[in-house]
Parts: sequence; structure tokens; C-alpha cells
Amino acid sequence: MSESLSLTRAARLIGIPRAELQRKIKLGEMVAHDGRVTVSNLLACYPDAQLEDTAETHRIALIKERAFGKRVFERALPEPEVLAARITDLGKTLATSQAQVDRFNDLLSKLWDKLDDTPDISITELKKWLEQEVELATEPGFINPLAIKDNILRVMTAQVTILPSKHDFMVEGHDSMLEAAMRAGIPLNYGCSGGNCGLCKAKVVSGEIRKTRNHDFIIPEAEKHAGYVLLCSNTAVSDVVIEAAVADSVQDIPFQQIEAHVKATGLINDDVLLLHLQTPRTKRLRFLAGQGITLRLGRSFSAVLPIASCPCDDRNLLFHIQRQPGNLFSDYAFDKLKMYEMVEIEGPQGEFILHEKSPRSQYFFAFDCGFAPIKSLIEHAMSLEVENIHLHWIGSSKQHIYLPNIAHAWDDALDNFTYHEHIAGFDLRSMSGKRDETLSKLLQEILTADENMLQGDIYIAGPEDAVNVAEHFFTEYGLPKTRVSASRVK
Ligand code: FES
Repeated sequence: MSESLSLTRAARLIGIPRAELQRKIKLGEMVAHDGRVTVSNLLACYPDAQLEDTAETHRIALIKERAFGKRVFERALPEPEVLAARITDLGKTLATSQAQVDRFNDLLSKLWDKLDDTPDISITELKKWLEQEVELATEPGFINPLAIKDNILRVMTAQVTILPSKHDFMVEGHDSMLEAAMRAGIPLNYGCSGGNCGLCKAKVVSGEIRKTRNHDFIIPEAEKHAGYVLLCSNTAVSDVVIEAAVADSVQDIPFQQIEAHVKATGLINDDVLLLHLQTPRTKRLRFLAGQGITLRLGRSFSAVLPIASCPCDDRNLLFHIQRQPGNLFSDYAFDKLKMYEMVEIEGPQGEFILHEKSPRSQYFFAFDCGFAPIKSLIEHAMSLEVENIHLHWIGSSKQHIYLPNIAHAWDDALDNFTYHEHIAGFDLRSMSGKRDETLSKLLQEILTADENMLQGDIYIAGPEDAVNVAEHFFTEYGLPKTRVSASRVK
């Protein structure tokens, strides 16, 4: 296996986040050329990598599945055990053949050298030498376990590289290229996800694709010949390179108006309601993690709420609504909203989004219901395999830290994630001179406990008063405004 590997594929093979490889390259611990690494360099850094070493990959995949709210079996292949055994077997055969081809190539160059060095060699001597060398070349020899694993991975998944952004992602199971990109946290352009609007049209530069469903949108013949396809209706068979636009700012996301319905609603505790809206299959909400939308309940009560779920599941939108007696929107949501009721949504809006290209550690500060946009950002950061994620959830009271199990589950399952809870002991929506001081003191304690925090990116979300104090606290330390992002949740 002499070819070089993309970082995404190399990380998959070893079972580590892509960010870890990037860090090693940055520190000079691993050699890479043009974003690719060779297998020998990979093995030099990870000598213990084994074919069976799939536990980490599997664990991360499970976390992602949970985070995305998808069922693990949804993307499983038919008869997976049988199929996996056959593919493993084929992978071994292929790796053995590849190794032999490599040895015969070596033998061929040795033969040229021999003929150059000893031009007078007799046919008998040459024949004898060749017999010995061929015997050596046909010995079973050592088969690199990574070569076998790579062969298996190539059957189970295909890699898609996007130009000109150079993003790449893996396509697994039954996923279309669009679904796989969203799962990987890459915001490609799209609209309906169902073959109707044509917004996901992209040009295939190389590689083999296959249509997974018929679509109503008609691609003009000339464009078809030029390689244009709909990403929502095609999957990758081999490694594929496409030309497509990737949204990298909120300006790239169009304003949308959709009628969604209430899929579920229920109390998380006495003061917080979980609202689950589902959009029509052909009209999903395109948004960036951390953004919010306007919801109109009962046709007349509206509020702007942050979306508490990941853009990778654009049909199922989650919201955390705080009880605010006397507030018409909150009263309606808690007391009158029914299952299947239609809710108008408009948006998205807001610039509280992840700095995806930042190499720094990501620090998230959620005050009370500020956890909603923070949850969306963290789930997105996980799908991008951001290396270091730290969450501090500061509640007015214990009751205000209303979904601690999610944060604890992330903490238990991910090596690159830490979680801390803090109780302010007063209402974070209503700050004063004394409370400002107490909150700043708490932030100072958190900062003192982690000296690397000032080198990271800071994200703060919650009631306006508390966010103002925290934003002021970090900018006073000299952090540039571009590294302190804030979302004021009403
Ligand atoms: S997203 Fe509408 S056609 Fe693909």
C-alpha cells in the first residue's frame, strides 16, 4: 500500500479524530504533503495500529449517531455479518496480491540493476539468480494490517472531496452524497433534499457515482454531459471529486419560510419545555449550528428561539422553551400547544456560529437556557471532530441545568470533551452590581483552573445580563472580539 492517504481516510484507519493528525502535522511529528500522509509515516506515528482496532471508530460513530438522533441500524447494510466477513476475506486477498505485486516490481528493478552491473552474466547464472529471487518474492511475507483495513474501508465507504474548498467526507451505507456531507458537518448548498429544487446540483470531476432515486428536477442535457448531478439523489461508488459551493458564512444561507408541525412536546422540568418540530419532507430548514429562527404559535404569538439541534438533521428541529408566566408565547407553548399543530417558522438568523477553521480549543459557556444554541454548536463540533471541546454550564440554580445527562454522556464517551457544572445561586436574567461581581468571580475561578482557556475560542449563550458580564470579562482579559462569540437568548 504505497499510495498516500487523505487525512480523513488516515484518521478512519487508525480510529482517531482527524484533528489529532492535523495537530501532529502542525507540531512536526508527522510528515504530510498537500494534506496527505503516506502509510509508512502513519505507521511510524501509530505503530500499534491493528486491523481489529475498530473500537474507537465504532464508539465515535455511536456518539455521532446519538447526537444526530438517527438510529444506528438505519444505515446498516443487509446481512451485515455475512457481508462484513466476505469483505474482510476479500480485503485480505487483495492486500496479499498488492504486496506480491509490490515485491515483483522490486524484483523487476533489481533485475535491471543486475543487467546494468553485470552485462556479461550468462543465461544459466541469470536463471539461477532469478529462481532464488522469484521464490523470495512469492513467499507470503508480512501483510500490513492497515492495507487490509483500507481495502475493507474502500468497499464500505467512499471518499468525496469538494473543490475548491478541499473539504472531504466519507459516504457510508445508503447515504446520498448530500446526507453524508451533512452528517460530516459540511454545509453544501441544497434546498428540498428530495430531487425537486435543483439547488444541490454539483459537477462530478472524477470518480464513479450511482443514482439512488429518480428526481423530478430536470438537469439540462448539456449540463448532464458536463458531469452535473444532484447530490441528494446520488451516492459515491468510488472515491469522487466534485465541484460544489460550501456555505461558510450566514450570508450563504437563504431566508426560508416553512410550515412545520409539532412532532412532540413535553416538560424537561417544571420550567423548561422541549419542543420538537418536524418540517415537510420536501421543505427542510437549512441553517448553521448556533442560529435561531422565528416561531409563530397559534398564528399570532411569535418569538425568536435558538435551534437546539444539529443542522445534520434538518427536518427535526428541537427547542428549549423557558416558562415565563405572562409571556403570551411561553403561556401558549406550555398550556395550549398540541401535537401535530402547525407552526410557522422563518429564518434562520443570527451569527452565533462555530469558527470551523479555527485550530484553537473551543470553550462553551451556557447560562441556563443558553444551553440550546450551545448544544447545537457542540454537536456540530463533534461531527467536525474538533479536537478539544470544553463546556461550562452555569445555572441560576440546579434546576436551571436541565439536561445534565446529555453533557455527562458526552463527557463519559469522548476523550476530547470536558464538562463542568456551576451554580450561580441567583437569577441570571436579572443582574446587578453585586451579582455582576459574584459572576465575574466565578468566571475567574473557572479561568484560573484552566490556564489554556485564554488561547481558545469562547462561545457564550444565555440571558442578556449574564452574557454581557461574561463577554466583558473575557474581552477585559484582552481576548479579541473575533474570539468571543455571544448569543443573547430571550
Ligand atoms: S436538494 Fe433539492 S434537488 Fe437536491
